[in-house]
Amino acid sequence: MHAANPLDDPTADPFQVAAAAASVIAETTGVERHDIALTLGSGWGRAADVIGETTHTIAAHEVPGFSKPALEGHVGTLRSIALPNGKRALVIGARTHYYEGHGVRRVVHSVRTAAAAGATTMILTNGAGGIRESWTAGTPVLIRDHINLTADSPLEGATFVDLTDLYSARLRALAHSIEPSLDEGVYVQFRGPHYETPAEVQMAKAIGGDIVGMSTALEAIAARQAGMEVLGMSLITNLAAGIQQTPLSHEEVIEAGRAAEPVISALLARIVAEL
Ligand code: HPA
Repeated sequence: MHAANPLDDPTADPFQVAAAAASVIAETTGVERHDIALTLGSGWGRAADVIGETTHTIAAHEVPGFSKPALEGHVGTLRSIALPNGKRALVIGARTHYYEGHGVRRVVHSVRTAAAAGATTMILTNGAGGIRESWTAGTPVLIRDHINLTADSPLEGATFVDLTDLYSARLRALAHSIEPSLDEGVYVQFRGPHYETPAEVQMAKAIGGDIVGMSTALEAIAARQAGMEVLGMSLITNLAAGIQQTPLSHEEVIEAGRAAEPVISALLARIVAEL
């Protein structure tokens, strides 16, 4: 039996829970302030090993508001990493997905915790389906913008937040200066956990989407609310349903992530080194 998650109490203030989580991280790591936070999705995990030196690893469920990951291929730890440039990174290997059904507060808790821990840059990565036929499994893509099809928001009440430059043009330019061949695309977040139908993929394409996934848009909104600068990157693990002719499978997604991991982790490390 796990202790109840404080975020499951509807009267809890999610920002207070995030502040409590940040305190536990500061106490456990002895690091008062983290500068950069990274959420590492499918295929990106190894980046944690190559961006710098891990000084502390915390089991996510020991931090208020976090829970164990629901899925194989997702790790359940928070890591404090000393970067070669003297900055500190907090790596979140424990993403809560919207499709888990725990509510959007739980989904964005890691982002709010990162902000409370001091981070001003939020790097959000994921494994996702590609709509553009020029992409193949293993292609990393910068997220230029998103379309949120979850019909939900992490913002509560009349909280109006501008999303014009949500995926920072400055950080995308920096990524391009390191890897000029990186494509950019519009990420379309579906609820999942089913993959999209071919018709839904065609709809996503018609409304301007290039990438389909189940995670990042809600997190990016919360990061912007917290005043963070956001860099989003998708690893194309498969072409989206109906674009590729074979059925999609979670195994295929994990395998594509494994195969691409060394290359995209090294790329991310080079970007982080310049932040
Ligand atoms: N659709 C949605 N999410 C995904 C996909 C996809 O095709 N591949 C990996 N995550």
